[in-house]
Amino acid sequence: MFPYEKKTRFSYSFATVPELSYICRREGFDIPLSRDVSPLSGKVRLRSKGGEMVTLQNSLAVLPVNCLDAAEDGAPSCLTERRWIRCAGSGAGLVFCGPASVSESDIADGRLLMTENNIQKYKSLINKMRAVFSGLLVLQLFADCPSEKESEGDLPALFAKAARAAFNAGFDGVEICVFPDSPSEYRSLVSKIFGAVFAVSPENAVISLKYFHNENSPDPDVVLLCDLAKKGLSAISVTAVSPDLACPSNIPQATPTRHPIADAEQLLSAAKRIKNLVPDVCVIASGMSYFKELAPNVAAGAIADKACDVAGFGRMALAYESFASDFLSDNTNRKKVCVACGKCTKLYLSGETVGCPVRDQSIYLPVLRRVTGKK
Ligand SMILES: Cc1cc2nc3c(=O)[nH]c(=O)nc-3n(C[C@H](O)[C@H](O)[C@H](O)COP(=O)(O)O)c2cc1C
Repeated sequence: MFPYEKKTRFSYSFATVPELSYICRREGFDIPLSRDVSPLSGKVRLRSKGGEMVTLQNSLAVLPVNCLDAAEDGAPSCLTERRWIRCAGSGAGLVFCGPASVSESDIADGRLLMTENNIQKYKSLINKMRAVFSGLLVLQLFADCPSEKESEGDLPALFAKAARAAFNAGFDGVEICVFPDSPSEYRSLVSKIFGAVFAVSPENAVISLKYFHNENSPDPDVVLLCDLAKKGLSAISVTAVSPDLACPSNIPQATPTRHPIADAEQLLSAAKRIKNLVPDVCVIASGMSYFKELAPNVAAGAIADKACDVAGFGRMALAYESFASDFLSDNTNRKKVCVACGKCTKLYLSGETVGCPVRDQSIYLPVLRRVTGKK
């Protein structure tokens, strides 16, 4: 009997590909795994608005994380700057910045805002990022819909205005992110926002959609996604409606309801369904930071399995500055990886500046201590 066979059903107990694959077999999880990480180095081509193909230098992306660290006017602060420059230098071919709100009524509590009024700060930060990064920079645009001051009908124009500012600032693309209230409202709202953003985007722009997988009705919205694919959507980044499902975590619970690997499996299978549905659109999968030092093997497996074109990392990018370069060269350092402990989420839920209190302690451990009251 191997030592890992003694561990409990829900314990996080794998350090090698054979161990993880044993646990998946034992529990019946279908997680693609590849010892060979070369699929991560594959170049990815995605369609710009005008139909020209844009090439990503590798298949890794930094995903947007709402770190509540904007300056008062909603522009990037020095903490945002530090974070984005770290992400730009991570080695990933695609970096999602943001989320930035499209509406001034949403910018309380450190949220970013994208407007012509604070564009200079974005421009100078983009210049600094470009000094260390030659990949694609996409800004996620976000709206709490509908906010108190605006009605849902205002959102397409607000998104279009923010998208125009984002392109003027120097971003290569924008991502549309609105949270679904109901599937039919979501479809009609997203279609209108996409139309408005498309109309103001330059020909070489990349337009992405944040798609929220719903575990209660797991089939993707075929009508919406096929329609947007036909109209020129470049990419779909897949997450989940439920925050717990979106971020599989290694948080000890007295009575866990479900293994976190089951959540990761669901996210990857949602991405795969979407990839099958719209094969010409670049699909970006998420939720793999949970796998710690085996994340590159899961990501490579997912790409080889055609579950996605790009493996996106949110929490991993907060924790591990050079994660993408190290994944690509198969030199992942287990002392630097995200441990999926949920502390970044805890900071977010407390309305504090978000970062990794475990791996980026000098800045974020004091913030966590303030939240927990522990020394
Ligand atoms: C604190 C926190 C805030 C997040 N904020 C956003 C957000 O504003 N927009 C978004 O698309 N995803 C957001 N995410 C989700 C991440 O982009 C990503 O999908 C998720 O963390 C799972 O990927 P991972 O396992 O690589 O972390 C957030 C995640 C965390 C932990």
